[in-house]
Amino acid sequence: MSKLVHAQWSSKMGFVLAATGSAVGLGNIWRFSYLVGDNGGAAFVLVYLACVAVVGLPVLVAEWLIGRRGQKNPINAMSELASKNGHPKAWALVGASGVVAAFLILSFYSVIGGWSLSYTLGSVIGTFTGQDADGVAATFDGLLGNPGLLLLWHTAFMVLVVWIVARGVTKGLESAARIMMPALVVLLLVLVGYGMTTGYFGETLAFMFRPDWSALSGDVVLAAMGQAFFTLSLGMGIMMAYGSYLGEDVKLLGTARTVIILDTGIALLAGLAIFPIVFANGLSASEGPGLIFVTLPLAFGNMTGGALLGLTFFLLLTFAALTSAISLLEPVVEFVEERTPFSRVMATLAGGMAVWVLGIAALMSFNIWPVPIMFGLNVFDFLDTFTSRILLPLTGLGAIVFVAWCLDRRSVADELNLSGGSEQLWHIVGRYVAPLGVLLVFINSLMG
Ligand code: PFF
Ligand code: NA
Repeated sequence: MSKLVHAQWSSKMGFVLAATGSAVGLGNIWRFSYLVGDNGGAAFVLVYLACVAVVGLPVLVAEWLIGRRGQKNPINAMSELASKNGHPKAWALVGASGVVAAFLILSFYSVIGGWSLSYTLGSVIGTFTGQDADGVAATFDGLLGNPGLLLLWHTAFMVLVVWIVARGVTKGLESAARIMMPALVVLLLVLVGYGMTTGYFGETLAFMFRPDWSALSGDVVLAAMGQAFFTLSLGMGIMMAYGSYLGEDVKLLGTARTVIILDTGIALLAGLAIFPIVFANGLSASEGPGLIFVTLPLAFGNMTGGALLGLTFFLLLTFAALTSAISLLEPVVEFVEERTPFSRVMATLAGGMAVWVLGIAALMSFNIWPVPIMFGLNVFDFLDTFTSRILLPLTGLGAIVFVAWCLDRRSVADELNLSGGSEQLWHIVGRYVAPLGVLLVFINSLMG
């Protein structure tokens, strides 16, 4: 068997680091908290947790399994596995839609990565020290209202991403994650501790975990499901690509559980850190994408050692954003490299440039081009919403349906070390619960 066609992860640890490096990013801190605030708190959080467990886990395992069996990039892996198992090569569309999604997502992800970079510098020069809520809001509005400044930071972030991918130093970055990720967790814990001193921690717990089900709507559920895909880097073929480097000895289910617990834990910590600041300062939870940028600087500006903590926090956030962004650029580069005569460096530059240009359109949504372009959404909101709510779930659905319906049941059970009742459960979840869950969410939200 030509199973070992390309290099494998030197260790299980290396794989877990790469997968968590991709998963943990702006999605956990920036996106999770703004969506919780926008969608009424606990009802969103609980549906999100359910989506992670019922849909996210099986899709993650399915993507890794496809990648490990296919030993190729997602498009070729899907088409080869499909024809080997007597199914149409059109399954490759699942891989292709992933490349499109990665391209679209990176364009706006980089804009937010730029905000994080800008706030890192802001912390260094003491922009936030001693500021009140109005001051912090004015600083943020100043950034948003200045397209030149946004362009500068978006460009800086993309240059970093392209440089890292072109130099192929991704691995080095991943081993740095070994230190950076725990550090990020520690800082979040410090912030949660600060939140406890505000007197609004109880309110935060109630907001995040005591559901007001009347806040639930098709739209909230769709947002929660989209976030589950986004945060776990699913539906983009990225986890499939990682799976192709995965040794036979790595246990998929156990590893998926580890990655999911880390990712979910960091998101929940971010919420517990941010909402006390929101409530203590009378801010609006439904501030939207700016939420962490108008809350966290307030905490840093008003706590002892806050200047240094703020700097460290935004540095770590930028770092987490970078490890996710390189995983987003990777499939785009691979695609360009395979279909053009470009070298790797040229392919990275070309892919990066295309992403950068689309990112410019996205950042103009905050100032000179706020008008709706589709479904009543401006470019930024359209990219953010359309990818996470439609493209990712559809592609992820393709992966789980393929594994559960098109691959041999026994061999999948063997590969996942499942037997008896747990195998039965996997089979039912993979075949019916997860796919129908996604479809129901779609239908439900279409009907309003
Ligand atoms: N999962 C990342 C986050 O939560 O920030 C974002 C992301 C990275 C999404 C890679 C998709 C992806 F392929
Ligand atoms: Na994430």
